[in-house]
Amino acid sequence: MKNNIFKMALILFATHCVSSQKVKSSDALQQKWWKEAVVYQVYPRSFKDSDGDGVGDIKGIISKLDYIKSLGIDAVWLNPIYSSPNDDNGYDISNYREIMKDFGTMQDFDLLLQEMHKCGIKLIMDLVVNHSSDEHEWFKQSRSSRDNPYRNYYHWWPAEKGKPPYRWSFFDVNSDAWKYDAQTNSYYLHYFSQKQPDLNWENPKVRHEVYDIMRFWLDKGIDGFRMDAFQFASKDTTWPELPKGYEKNIIKYYGVGPHLHEYLQEMNKEVFSKYDIMTVAEGAGSSPEDAMLFVDPDRKELNMAYHFESVDIGKHLKDFGLVKYKAIFSRYDQEFKDKGWLAIFLANHDQPRMVSKFGNDTPKYRAISSKMLSTFIMTMRGTPYYYYGDELGMDNIRFNSIEDYKDLDTRNRYIGLKNKGGDLQAFLEQQKQTSRENGRTPFQWDTTQNAGFTTGTPWLKVNPNYQTINAEAQEKDPNSTLNYFKKLVKLRKQEPAFVYGTYTLLDKENPNVYAYTRELNGKKLLVLLNFSDKEATYNTGFLTLKSKIILGNYQDLINTKTNMLRPYEAKIIELK
Ligand code: GLC
Repeated sequence: MKNNIFKMALILFATHCVSSQKVKSSDALQQKWWKEAVVYQVYPRSFKDSDGDGVGDIKGIISKLDYIKSLGIDAVWLNPIYSSPNDDNGYDISNYREIMKDFGTMQDFDLLLQEMHKCGIKLIMDLVVNHSSDEHEWFKQSRSSRDNPYRNYYHWWPAEKGKPPYRWSFFDVNSDAWKYDAQTNSYYLHYFSQKQPDLNWENPKVRHEVYDIMRFWLDKGIDGFRMDAFQFASKDTTWPELPKGYEKNIIKYYGVGPHLHEYLQEMNKEVFSKYDIMTVAEGAGSSPEDAMLFVDPDRKELNMAYHFESVDIGKHLKDFGLVKYKAIFSRYDQEFKDKGWLAIFLANHDQPRMVSKFGNDTPKYRAISSKMLSTFIMTMRGTPYYYYGDELGMDNIRFNSIEDYKDLDTRNRYIGLKNKGGDLQAFLEQQKQTSRENGRTPFQWDTTQNAGFTTGTPWLKVNPNYQTINAEAQEKDPNSTLNYFKKLVKLRKQEPAFVYGTYTLLDKENPNVYAYTRELNGKKLLVLLNFSDKEATYNTGFLTLKSKIILGNYQDLINTKTNMLRPYEAKIIELK
């Protein structure tokens, strides 16, 4: 008898072992700090100036670490602070191991990292290695003669072969990505500006130089990299003619080249695998399937990707409509439901302000619609990236004159259009909605001169609305967009369902309301967002008398009409 009990126990134990081995928890549920983190993007030029030269700097950021910490965020992504002639605000790097003078010194950087870590905040650096500056020593050498050892660090086309096959350039006045260089009677390739020559990733020496640079920063203790424009690093260097209509899918012809994933796997083996860091691809092909290839954990490349389909769909939400918008997020979520990981964002330094594009920045709705959009970012599946100033509801500056723009993107396109005799007024009107400089104006700290950003002349005009929209006023107001943002961050941290829970879209065809649930281990949270300036009804089922509203952007959480949301209303409801 005793023996039998013992045997049964053994069988039970054995069965239990077998079944638990079979249940392999999905990658989507694997806990990682970078999935749980909320990332706050700091554009250093515009955050805080400490020395009165009109340009934000590292010491300025250090002086505002208490503010950053008060947001409750976990990591800061810092746009490039390396030495640069600043053709493209630091995205043209002339020395990857030095700090740009405008921003301070390496000692300032070391202090920033140390102080951030003391506050429990991680630091993610921007890594710009699809191209360097033409003032980088590598390029100076490379252009000096055809047999220079650095020649193959870049892409050259000898002029005796005739004109190179046309490639379009993002920032070139003539939209031509090949620039003739008389010194060696050759053309060099620049997908971005003429001062941003593309590095030749086919050359293993280039790759290993970059891995060394990465180790330099990682050994200082930084916590990860955002891989700028890296999808363009691999090119089809047989340079085929582009088919008609290539402009409609530029990524397909310009990015995700034949060796891109080999490079990322090599980079992972050489560098990433040796550190506990976060790595994020800026741009990841042109479909959810493409994006998965960057972050499928079995492939050992990057941790996460951010795709552009949801921000590049048009000028304003009104133009493309909520149904299309919901479909994009849902399609990506479906692809990533079991493995891989995405970033969620509505703005960054290359986009207009979030509230101006997806919400409503009129005085009546600016705050409420900002809060609604923040609710979206903080409750979606994926790591939230939140752009500096969006927590205050900062909006588009809408410059009237080309003189006010500093950005080469707007300026070069203006010149190109002028040369062709195009409609400059219409272009300027359009830039008020689309220019990325709308989102780069100095942070609005308080009501003092220049919004407390600088005692000098700001490098870019401050938005005059700082008298009403500023951090100091919002810190004091319990109902401000700032304080609502802090509540959301706290809630996301308290509630694992917002990080690891499944996402289910509800009321799919509703043109005004975005409704979805997040669900984990029996806990079900319903998120209701009205993206319109009218009352809007929804049909999600589920709600019972026991359902509990846990956060909303209207002060009186309960409205009397059932299944109705007020203009731009957001609600998070726990379903019971
Ligand atoms: C990325 C950056 C953008 C920059 C471009 C060229 O898209 O985000 O600001 O202009 O790369 O480096």
